[in-house]
Amino acid sequence: MIRVCSVGEIPEGEAVRVDPGPDGVPVAVFHVGGAYYALDDTCTHQDASLTDGYVEEEDCAVECPLHASCFDLRTGEPSGPPARTPVRTHAVVVEDGAVYVRLQSADAIV
Ligand code: FES
Repeated sequence: MIRVCSVGEIPEGEAVRVDPGPDGVPVAVFHVGGAYYALDDTCTHQDASLTDGYVEEEDCAVECPLHASCFDLRTGEPSGPPARTPVRTHAVVVEDGAVYVRLQSADAIV
């Protein structure tokens, strides 16, 4: 697991970028609705950082800052074009006052 930060360091409705993971892929960790979500940081459409996107707290989603595809923070699924491929999600563990990400293997991408 990768330690991201202490609980409370990511304000509600915001995200931090953690890079790189063991497979070299940066991860975006979001704090929304009292929960944490982790996704690959790079949009599946082009090279944009989802950490810099607009968090839609009511939909538990992030809007890509480049072409506005929205990705569900729980599943990584895009809600519409131009992105058509989900971003990979990762498990988040909160333990002993810290936030950790357990990276999903790149081999698990279908
Ligand atoms: S780069 Fe994200 S929608 Fe185009």
